[in-house]
Amino acid sequence: MAEPGPAVRRKSCPGSVRKRRQALVVCSTVCSPVARKKLSSGGEGPAAEATCINDSEEDMFGDYDSFYGNDSLLAQIDDTEHEHLHDRNKDIKADGELILGNLQSGIYQEKDNFSTSENMVILKADKEDAFEMNKNDLLDSNQEPTESISDDLPSSQLLYFAKLNELSSGSRTSPLSERKRKCKKSSDKIRSPLSFYPDDEHRNRPTDVSSHSNCALFKTDSLKDNLKSAMTGNAKAQTLQVSKTKQLKEAVLSEEICVARKTIESSSVDIGPFYGLPSKVKDLFRQFRGIETLYEWQHDCLMLESLQQRKNLIYSLPTSGGKTLVAEIIILQELLCRRKDVLMILPYVAIVQEKVRGLSSFGIELGFLVEEYAGSKGRFPPIKRRIKRSLYIATIEKGHGLVNSLIETKRIDDLGLVVVDELHMLGEGSRGAMLEITLAKILYSSKNTQIIGMSATLNNVEDLQKFLQAEYYTNNFRPVELKEYVKIGGTVYATDSKTESGFTFSRFLNFKYSSNLQKADPDHIVALVTEVIPKYSCLIFCPTKKNCENVASMVCKYLKKEFRAHREKEKQDLIKHLKNIGNGSICSVLKQTIPYGIAYHHSGLTNDERRSVEEAYSAGVLCLLACTATLAAGVNLPARRVILRAPYVANDFLKKNQYKQMIGRAGRAGIDSAGESILIVQEKDKHLAQRLVNSPLENCYSNLLLELTKGMHSLLLSLVGLKIAVTREEVNTFMCSTLLGVQQHLLSKEKSLSEVIKDGLEHLIEKGLLEGRMSEKNHNSKYTLTITPLGRATYKGSIDLAYCNLLYRELKKGLEGLVLESNLHLLYLTTPYDLTFSCNPDWMIYLRQFGQLSAAEQKVADILGVPESFITKKASGQAVRKNVDSTVANRLYLSFVLYTLLKETNIWSVSEKFNMSRGYVQNLLNSAASFASCVLHFCEELEEFWVYKALLTELTKQLTYCVKTELIPLMEVAGVLEARAKQLYNAGYKTLAHLANANPETLVRVIEHLSRRQARQIVSSAKMLLSEKAEALQEEVEELLKVPTDIPGT
Ligand SMILES: Nc1ncnc2c1ncn2[C@@H]1O[C@H](COP(=O)(O)OP(=O)(O)OP(=O)(O)O)[C@@H](O)[C@H]1O
Ligand SMILES: [Mg+2]
Repeated sequence: MAEPGPAVRRKSCPGSVRKRRQALVVCSTVCSPVARKKLSSGGEGPAAEATCINDSEEDMFGDYDSFYGNDSLLAQIDDTEHEHLHDRNKDIKADGELILGNLQSGIYQEKDNFSTSENMVILKADKEDAFEMNKNDLLDSNQEPTESISDDLPSSQLLYFAKLNELSSGSRTSPLSERKRKCKKSSDKIRSPLSFYPDDEHRNRPTDVSSHSNCALFKTDSLKDNLKSAMTGNAKAQTLQVSKTKQLKEAVLSEEICVARKTIESSSVDIGPFYGLPSKVKDLFRQFRGIETLYEWQHDCLMLESLQQRKNLIYSLPTSGGKTLVAEIIILQELLCRRKDVLMILPYVAIVQEKVRGLSSFGIELGFLVEEYAGSKGRFPPIKRRIKRSLYIATIEKGHGLVNSLIETKRIDDLGLVVVDELHMLGEGSRGAMLEITLAKILYSSKNTQIIGMSATLNNVEDLQKFLQAEYYTNNFRPVELKEYVKIGGTVYATDSKTESGFTFSRFLNFKYSSNLQKADPDHIVALVTEVIPKYSCLIFCPTKKNCENVASMVCKYLKKEFRAHREKEKQDLIKHLKNIGNGSICSVLKQTIPYGIAYHHSGLTNDERRSVEEAYSAGVLCLLACTATLAAGVNLPARRVILRAPYVANDFLKKNQYKQMIGRAGRAGIDSAGESILIVQEKDKHLAQRLVNSPLENCYSNLLLELTKGMHSLLLSLVGLKIAVTREEVNTFMCSTLLGVQQHLLSKEKSLSEVIKDGLEHLIEKGLLEGRMSEKNHNSKYTLTITPLGRATYKGSIDLAYCNLLYRELKKGLEGLVLESNLHLLYLTTPYDLTFSCNPDWMIYLRQFGQLSAAEQKVADILGVPESFITKKASGQAVRKNVDSTVANRLYLSFVLYTLLKETNIWSVSEKFNMSRGYVQNLLNSAASFASCVLHFCEELEEFWVYKALLTELTKQLTYCVKTELIPLMEVAGVLEARAKQLYNAGYKTLAHLANANPETLVRVIEHLSRRQARQIVSSAKMLLSEKAEALQEEVEELLKVPTDIPGT
């Protein structure tokens, strides 16, 4: 349980890794799923088939809901923190006091003066001084909002501009002397070690690189110069004097990186200016994150001997404990000092995008690349960079693909570090299985790749430690105290693990309800929220999507009119903005609730809507969100109070982990100074609630067998495909090192792990994915297995094994008569299989849409075996005798939706046309984009499908962006969604180069609803992407120009 504590709870032996106390590892009362799993060798029943191909868009709690568009939270929050929070608190305080109605309870004790100072340690000289801010050495790190664009650029870029000016003003030098000058400059301390443009070969090279080798690299200078000229565009006009201070700072940085690198190489204990990193890094954390000092536990953790020795590490702290910062420092050490690539695995697409944006500015300042691996984005294998190191930020699915491709190309050792956030996801469904597979492969294939995992909700840590061969660090620190309450009837109880019941009386809820209100709000939600809003913000977690909307509507119905006056103009602007996003349409519930500062948030919103709602909530324009569990994981939203409307997610009683993650959103450090949660419980559920509050966190079990096709079978296939293990004996050895291997004692008595493996391999042979003999009694364990082309295509495309044969057949059939008059036929082939099971076509709409197709397009339906007569009969309710495969008919229906979407690029009108929720349509589109890229990779491996390659490349792009073509370059920038892209485009920012060279201050001025922080992040991400693209081209050119060493006769 996350214990609130005013002071840091120090470990008994500071500086050393402490194993989790035995007492903490309480055996779960829940029967292990591994043990419950009925083992079968091959059968993928319908349940197994309904697994998701889509990456990281399902809800953290199963299929109940989904989460995609949670972008820009940090951006907005940080901006709010820096720019508005202070003012807002003042404003709201004044307003709130005036406008709170009678409903406001006088009982609510405001406690916003929790001091965190006791919890912080200002670290002093050397180790202890690692993070103390030295104002003198920061100079201009605290950029004022009015700073000119030049101050946002690294001095190397400014130097480049200066050079351009110099050249254009006549002081030209010959290319040769220029090259020499460069060579000379490369050893010059003033030269930027970390410039944005990729022309500074020197900057990331160790100091011992000879000037000769530097010179050799300049043979492609003219190309680079061309690239640079093309890229700099308008920015050239803004070229200004290079700040000497900036040059000096970067020279110091260069020096520090070298020292840090040497230090890390030579010693395992000694550290550089900032945990082995240049002191600029701490400036950046202050500048970009507002972090002044490290918490004591963060320092202790970073000083762990095991980390110095590069051992694997799991660390666990309560929600909002500040786990991310530690991981980020370790990542920077790896990138800058050890010069290795890093993979960071995060649970959702939206969180990946947010992280890419957040870390791009670090990348630009410190000279590493940040590459996004989410949705349909990401290259396999990644481009091999000679100069800069890469930080791959990936969803679980893309992380898996990336690791596979690195193993296959024998580059896995380039990966120095893998960081897994929300490590408890190992125990969650197919994504858990995929995470386990990824980590097991890394552990087995690369002895030099360090693994770091973190989570707030771990229980059976010993199992995970064994699996990851990791040390463990834990601490109960939470910077902001979180008080947990339970409300039953009109009484509020504090949770108290010391008492037998688990609850102690806290107060009676003070509310005066009319009979009408009592009927509409029997759980006193209005009373609970008006104790905090609009002065503070509040999240209400609801069991279902519909419930979110109902709660939001109900609350605003009973709020006093005065609530409307609070930030009225901004709320009107938000409504206007949502209307723009919806091309003139706005959700009627939001239209009604937003004037009161209230909204709902769940997967039924489009990506753009979700982003707007989150941003408005983070900025305090909205003060209450009724949301599903989609907002529960790792999200930094300001919530003084979190209310759990009922202890259920859909129809299931809450699990402890879910409960902890939800309440953990209250009282986030740097956003709120206090936090509390209130779980609303009905009398009948009282005992269950007591058990919930007092029980330990759930154990984390391997899902390899529960998710057979995406788990065990997929693993076996890729083990052979990647040649990690090609005999049964080797496979057995490998499997012992998985989490399943660690937990094999929990397997049912019917079958041992090696029998399960044997069954699995036989099944893959039967399916034509592997070749080999498994049936011989003797010697079979040494018989070499090989992968078939279909097997290779399947694992390379990350195709769920439940569908690979079907996909192959459909693609093959497509070769005989693919209708290419429009993209309908292709869309059918890339419509995700798993969504067809839950699809219930409206046959009238089906018929209407069919009628609007051209003759050639109608032929597609015929080819697929869904004739017009069938659709007509279905629409008119007649009995159908024809044997039509309903999954094909459903899939075709979904491709009609996608087809209309690509034509109209308007989710709202399409959802109306098909009578589907816009969130469903959005999810279908996201899933189709992901699946299209999977099918593309599948086809790339099968020669007979060469023709699909070009077609699917283009289709994947269309599905990924689903906007007018001109917006695509802008939407390539992490997290720039359609609405933002349109604003930018209309304001004249038409290309990536425009964005990369934009002045954030100008952006804030000309783009509505754009905070300064967001503007900076957009520019940083655009710079990063541009830099990445330019480097890729450059690498390609240099590869092309490389003289082969084996030319005959030389
Ligand atoms: N040393 C620090 N000083 C001030 N703020 C900090 C510090 N470390 C982290 N924070 C802030 O605390 C907030 C929560 O941190 P973080 O997101 O890392 O929590 P977490 O431990 O990952 O929680 P969760 O398990 O909920 O994801 C962030 O806004 C972060 O910027
Ligand atoms: Mg976190």
